[in-house]
Amino acid sequence: MAKRPVLIAVILSTLSIAADLNTKAPTFAKDVAPILQEKCQACHRPGSMAPMSLVTYEETRPWVKDIKQRVVTRNMPPWHLDKTVGIQHFQNDISLTDEQIATIARWVDAGAPLGDPKDMPAPKQWPQDDGWQLAKQFGPPDLIIKSEPYTMPAHGQDVWFKPLTQIPLTEPRWVRAVEMRPSTPAGRRITHHALAYLQQEEPGVNNDAAPGNATQGLLMEWAVNKNYDIYRPNTGKLLLPGARIWWEEHLHAVGEEIRDHVELAVYLYPKGQEPKYRTALTLFSASPGNNLDIPPNTITQTEGYHTLKEPARLENFQPHMHLRGKSMLLEALLPDGSRRTLSYVDHFNFNWMINYIYADDDAPVLPKGTVIHVVASHDNTPNNKNNPDPNQWVGWGDRTVDEMAHAWVNVTYISEEDYLAYTVAHRTR
Ligand code: HEC
Repeated sequence: MAKRPVLIAVILSTLSIAADLNTKAPTFAKDVAPILQEKCQACHRPGSMAPMSLVTYEETRPWVKDIKQRVVTRNMPPWHLDKTVGIQHFQNDISLTDEQIATIARWVDAGAPLGDPKDMPAPKQWPQDDGWQLAKQFGPPDLIIKSEPYTMPAHGQDVWFKPLTQIPLTEPRWVRAVEMRPSTPAGRRITHHALAYLQQEEPGVNNDAAPGNATQGLLMEWAVNKNYDIYRPNTGKLLLPGARIWWEEHLHAVGEEIRDHVELAVYLYPKGQEPKYRTALTLFSASPGNNLDIPPNTITQTEGYHTLKEPARLENFQPHMHLRGKSMLLEALLPDGSRRTLSYVDHFNFNWMINYIYADDDAPVLPKGTVIHVVASHDNTPNNKNNPDPNQWVGWGDRTVDEMAHAWVNVTYISEEDYLAYTVAHRTR
């Protein structure tokens, strides 16, 4: 009996908290600043790559309309995946939760109040990244490969710089981790992102997009907040003598001339130690035969099918298209006739070549005979804000004004035994 009033009191106080949340507008100090610290300031702070700082209230206030617009449409933070279908757990997810989006929208709608400055969280401390981060774990890198430097003028259009660098290796070696960075803090400001593709000739392995028949796959991507890649346990990438790095650096002008280069650190497995599994970056095309036919003022769709000849785990999904790219679906057609949506990027943006890396427990493990189905669409209408000219016909090609349509996926082939073990473990879970 004595318990009753206590229970009522608890219910009443819970209700009043809930009512508070519904009626009181969120404030910058209490509700919004922590979100900006967690999800925006990696790029939006002085000296980082984004056009404005979102650290103080004064800096943020002029941008609130744009902030709401970009956040509600899920264009910022850059994470362009449809969150209603497919796998949703990633190693590198920087997106906002639904609650965070709602908080920001309600805050802006309420006139973006500062609130009580005493509620402000302590400013976030950013690591001074001196040195290679993985050196603590693996010791100094075995190889440091440097791109040619580039001098970015103070003003001008974005540049895509694509030099080629030889990797100094005389025998095959297994890579267990890679780390990448522009070599100076100034270089980090002009580098929107940087990709390091691996080019090596390898009999029996052939990707359709490869120039001169070389295997060409992404080894590493540098983006703010993404500096390194450690392969999953007992898994590695094989580097062959003669291999080259083909860089793709997306640079933008920041008002002063800056000269810098990008560096790639490679951590090898000790000599003689071979990981059990090899991860091979694989191109799953959605434009078979490199055929694309995108008439003016239309939206087109193309698709490709690729059969897995062994059981495999897919580690990531990185759609690759150019300015007209709109969406890309990665789907598995299973041997039992069922189909499984793996990932769908529904609002692709060429400025952000995002690599969606599946979380350890969520990377899909698929049986031999699975068909990987990739569906891409291109928007060559004026609705596409990146479209330089909707009145031009567009076909497949290397320039950014041409198009491509493929997914880069790190594929780790596993044995039938391991696949069976996986399905058993999965069923009992
Ligand atoms: C990975 C880096 C990164 C993160 C994280 C990020 N931004 Fe951005 N943001 C940029 C860059 C670069 C631009 C300019 C290029 C573009 O628009 O894509 C930009 C542009 C914007 C713009 C448009 C500015 C203009 O000139 O109109 C807004 C608004 C914005 N960001 C808000 C946010 C908010 C709010 C967050 C966090 C919830 C966020 N961004 C997270 C990098 C980032």
